[in-house]
Amino acid sequence: MPINNTEKQLTLNQDHLSSKYLQVLGSQGLSGHIRVSGAKNSALVLMAAALLADRSVCLSNVPLLADVEAMSKLLVSMGIELRRNKNQLEIITSSINLSPKDLSCEVFHSLRASFFCIGPLLARLGEVKIPLPGGCKIGTRPIDEHIQGLRALGARVEIENDYVVAKLISPQKRLTGAQIRFNCKSVGATETILMAATLAKGMTILENAAQEPEIQDLATMLNKMGAKIKGAGTSRITIEGVDRLNGCSYMVMPDRIEAGTFLIASAITRSPLTISPVIPEHLDTVILKLQECGCLIECSGDTLSIIPRKNLQAVDITTSPFPGFPTDLQAPFMALMATVKGTSKIEETVFENRMQHIGEFQRMGAKILLEGNTAYVIGDNNLKATSIAAGDLRSCAAMVLVSLAANGTSVVQGLEHLDRGYEDFAEKLNAVGANILRTYSVPLTNHE
Ligand code: UD1
Repeated sequence: MPINNTEKQLTLNQDHLSSKYLQVLGSQGLSGHIRVSGAKNSALVLMAAALLADRSVCLSNVPLLADVEAMSKLLVSMGIELRRNKNQLEIITSSINLSPKDLSCEVFHSLRASFFCIGPLLARLGEVKIPLPGGCKIGTRPIDEHIQGLRALGARVEIENDYVVAKLISPQKRLTGAQIRFNCKSVGATETILMAATLAKGMTILENAAQEPEIQDLATMLNKMGAKIKGAGTSRITIEGVDRLNGCSYMVMPDRIEAGTFLIASAITRSPLTISPVIPEHLDTVILKLQECGCLIECSGDTLSIIPRKNLQAVDITTSPFPGFPTDLQAPFMALMATVKGTSKIEETVFENRMQHIGEFQRMGAKILLEGNTAYVIGDNNLKATSIAAGDLRSCAAMVLVSLAANGTSVVQGLEHLDRGYEDFAEKLNAVGANILRTYSVPLTNHE
């Protein structure tokens, strides 16, 4: 099914997207199996990486998400043809007809991952003017590491008003390999420079690179396209530049953050679940923490079975880059800790402003003290349903989870965030016994 205009391309149900509230009935047991979708953070960067190919790239297991739709819109606005069939997406990049003014600011601002396009566009077109990125408001989220990396590869990069303007300055109009040491471990910067360096002349060495599985997924696809990348998944990545990259077919890896969210859904409702497909090593730290607090977790191939004890205990977590505890699961894990016995210390070290969910949890009766970026959660399995609103993607998922554990019916707002990153979140939970209703108008509930 060819999709070459933005209207036809919107495959998410519009009624579903415009409904604003989730009404969540608490204290319901869950049981059964939940299927994990393709990883949002992989799919988005793989879509941008397709811009490097001079033939079509066919992705499978692409999740149906608002962020993927926004990225699709962006590619279409560059003259790229997309063909979509359910979770398959073919990106035909032979037709990039882009001038810098064509890039719509609105789409770029709505999506942090839009900035991924800078490396591929610069490498292929020699020049790009790209609006500054948007995304979840969880910190200042600078892009200095991306810019310094591109400069090290020989590009001239300036920020002009709300745009980043990048240009190749070498007479050969090609990036040049370089040795780059990142000042901090950044997933986005590692991905931007990795993509740009695949078409650079000579060898690039990235040090202090981020090690997240999404970077390995990106490198695996780029190598399938003909790139020469070694060491992705470690802190030192080498990239031997090639002249061109081919198209390929590639399956997006399973979403480790979605899988982790459902493991926590099991724990918070004290209900057994099986979850697949997963790559268990991607969830090692999360599994260890859940085991430490009293969940029995068994792994068989790509399936995790989790049976939580009734009397779970508090454990401490500190978020950090992979293989540490993922910042994207900090809010869901805090929701769980609000329901267990004891006091847990939750320290956020990746983003400086990622504790906004605490106020909403407190409105449900959670006892949480915040000191800087460390929260002390005094667990108590007696949360009361109420109306709560999320300001970012992962905290919205956490609010649904905490509502599943509360007494009464909660109303969760902020679904525009949830839809960015979870495919059929409520539907998947309902299929294993939750009672979640999506509505347009303020639900009439006294929360009891
Ligand atoms: C990605 C993920 C996001 C996840 C985050 C950390 C995508 C689309 N999003 O975001 O879900 O929460 O990794 O695992 O993949 N930093 C700088 N300068 C830079 C870039 C980053 O100082 O140029 C800092 C950030 O402010 C932050 C830290 O590095 O404190 C990590 O950010 P980064 O890994 O870049 O996150 P994103 O790629 O934005």
